[in-house]
Order: sequence, then C-alpha cells, then structure tokens
Amino acid sequence: AQKYRRFDAIQLPDRQWPNVVLDKAPIWMSTDLRDGNQALIDPMSVETKMRFFLALVDMGFKEIEVGFPSASDTDFNFVRRLIEEKRIPDDVTIEVLTQAREDLIARTVESLKGAKRAILHVYNPIASAFREIVYRTDKAGVKEIAVRGTRWVKEMTAKQPETEWIYQYSPETFSSAEIEFAKEVCDAVTAIWQPTPDHKMIINLPATVEMATPNTYADQVEWMHRHLNKRDSIILSVHPHNDRGTAVAAAELAVMAGADRVEGCLFGNGERTGNVDLITLAMNLYSQGIHPGVDFTQMDQIRQLFEEATQLPVHPRHPYAGELVFTAFSGSHQDAIKKGLAVQKADDYWQVPYLPIDPADVNRSYDAVVRVNSQSGKGGVSFLLQQHAGFELPRRLQIEFSKVVQKVSDSSGREINADNIVTLFDKEYVQV
Ligand code: KIV
Ligand code: ZN
Repeated sequence: AQKYRRFDAIQLPDRQWPNVVLDKAPIWMSTDLRDGNQALIDPMSVETKMRFFLALVDMGFKEIEVGFPSASDTDFNFVRRLIEEKRIPDDVTIEVLTQAREDLIARTVESLKGAKRAILHVYNPIASAFREIVYRTDKAGVKEIAVRGTRWVKEMTAKQPETEWIYQYSPETFSSAEIEFAKEVCDAVTAIWQPTPDHKMIINLPATVEMATPNTYADQVEWMHRHLNKRDSIILSVHPHNDRGTAVAAAELAVMAGADRVEGCLFGNGERTGNVDLITLAMNLYSQGIHPGVDFTQMDQIRQLFEEATQLPVHPRHPYAGELVFTAFSGSHQDAIKKGLAVQKADDYWQVPYLPIDPADVNRSYDAVVRVNSQSGKGGVSFLLQQHAGFELPRRLQIEFSKVVQKVSDSSGREINADNIVTLFDKEYVQV
C-alpha cells in the first residue's frame, strides 16, 4: 500500500489552469566530488573521494561527476584509480568536467583511458558579464569557443573508441544570458555532436549564480525544452545554485517545466551557497509517495560520511536529516504526535501530526521524536515515561508530574531527557 498521500496533487475546486505535479523522479547526477569538492576549504583527498564515491554508489546514484582532471592532479589520479581498480559498477557512469580548451580536453580524455563509459562535460560561460569583462569578446567569439571545444571533444574521443562516450555541454551562466543566444550556442554544439534518440547527448542549463525567482528559471528551462533543436536526442539537465535560497524550488519547477535530469550535491554543498540539495529533492518526492530512485534510508550514516569528508556540519534543522527534525518541543505538538502514533496503522497513509514522514524511513527512532523542556506539556512527559519505563499515568498524575518536570527544566533552563524523567518520577512517587 502507498504510505504517503499526494499532497501536491490536491485538486482545487474551481481550478482554471492545469494541475502540474511531479510524478516521477528525474535522472540524478551527483556533483559532490566536483562542484561540491571545489568549494571546500580543504578539498578531499583521493582516499576520501573514493569513500564518498562508493557511498554514492550505495545510495543508488547512477551518474557521478568525479572531478576536474585537467585542473588537479588529485582529480586526475582519482579518475585513474577508479578505472584501474575497477571501482565503477557497470550501471554507473562517471562524469568529468573540462573547459573548452584543446590542452585541457586532451588531458581529460587521457584521464579516462580504459573507462567503459564516461560523460565528458565541457563548458564555457556565455552571459554578457563574461563576454565583456572576462573574455573581452562578443557573442560570436563565445559561440566559437563552444564550437571549437565541441569539435576537439569529438576528435579526441574518437581516438579512444574503447570507451562509450556521452557528451555533455553546459552554457555556463545560462540563466543570466540572453535566452535566444543560449539556444543558438546549444544548437551549434548539437549540430557538431550529432546525437540520436538512441545515443543522446546532455545539455545542462546552469543557474551558475541564482539571480531570479524559481519560476523565472523554470520559464527559461521550459523555453529551451520547447525550442532546442533535436530535443528527442537530448537529455535536458538543470544545475541550480542556491544564492537566493530557492534552488530546491527552482529544480522542482524546472523538472515540471520539462527538464529530465538534475545535478546537485548532498546537503546542498557546492560553490558559495551551494548547489541544489539532492537529499531534500529526493525526499520531497519520497514524501509524496514517488520512489526517488536513490536510497537515503541510512540518513545518519550519510550525514556522518558527509561531515567527515567535507568538514562541514549539517544544520540541525536540515530537512529530513538534521538532528532536530523529528523532535517536538512544544506540549501541543507532543500531545498530537502521541495521539497520532497511537492510532497510526502500518498499512494506512502516514498521517501522524507534525511528522511529514515516518522517522523510521530514514532509520531514525521514535525515541528521539519527543523531547521535553520547560515549554512542554503533559503529553510529552507521559509519552517518554510510557516509552522508557513502560507505564501509563492516569490523567491527574500526568498533570501533576508534568508540573514537577517543568519546574526542574525551568530552573536548569535545559532539556530534560527520558532517563532523567524516569529518575525524577522514581524520586517523587516510587522511592520512600
Ligand atoms: O555552476 C556552473 O555553471 C557549473 C558549470 C561548470 C556546469 O558548475
Ligand atoms: Zn555549479
């Protein structure tokens, strides 16, 4: 039976516009080891990258950008080790990034010698700030950089036919560029790479810096989806950054607008404010009863791996993963949760108040759901007593004892945990 209700599919009584919902997971691409890694104070070592890569494989990622081999020896060596030690499962495709320069493309192709399959990701910035300030060129000059790079990719990869090559092009700064120019550049790339419906290429549309509301990005993606040449031979990918804090919304709307694939990082790591957070995106689908195709059941282990590898803490209120997200502090919340858990049946829709998903689905325990401090009422106190000491207090005693607990917590100003509640109860009522 389906555990989660489709809240995003709720019909409004007099809706005048189509009800667009997400009904399947996009193709995920983890760029933790590239965009995520390049934004770390201390980038990952080869060993750490290997541990992270294997964990991403375990989570079910089928496309993983593993580095920028022409920019760093660590990344070059890591790609070599992945290939030589045969660490890449048959159903997983590694991806590497390169700028559209001849020497860098050559080094990138060299790093992939012996790979069964690889996504070669080439990019160049196209927006006016880059044209005018960084490259001191015009639209034709920027288009020429893409065209030349694309040709080199085609020529150099042809010399390594043992690898199945999938080409990816990113017009970097897409969301800040003139949309018709972005299409013109992408179409020029497509004309060189000549994809077919049986052997598609990837066009990836980055919000390199998030500058507009998420609907605007989705409108840009939709326009490209409608107008790109050879759309049936293209996997349309999005790459939202989070400068305005709306990357998750941008990615969701972009997929509704026609994107097939999303690039991002666990816990929203990545340059500046990060890439889009793949955990939130996938778990948002999961909480609507849609299988995300990746597995975050072992959430605490994933969080630990992430924190060790990146030296970045996961926020305690991070959706689905933070330490506090299955915790209720207020009495009315605790009371409602207690009632919800008591009547929740295994094969019914999940509908415990204040808990968007069953914590057990990410291997978190019910024990941690209710914590008690000076803001809590009798519900939480009696719930913890029942869970940890096994007895149900009569209502009058619940009220009386919760006042005792509140007083202790008020004077310490701290949370009071289940063990202390049981000890307090013993002291007040059991010991003579
Ligand atoms: O944010 C970006 O534009 C990128 C590209 C290299 C895809 O990371
Ligand atoms: Zn990026």
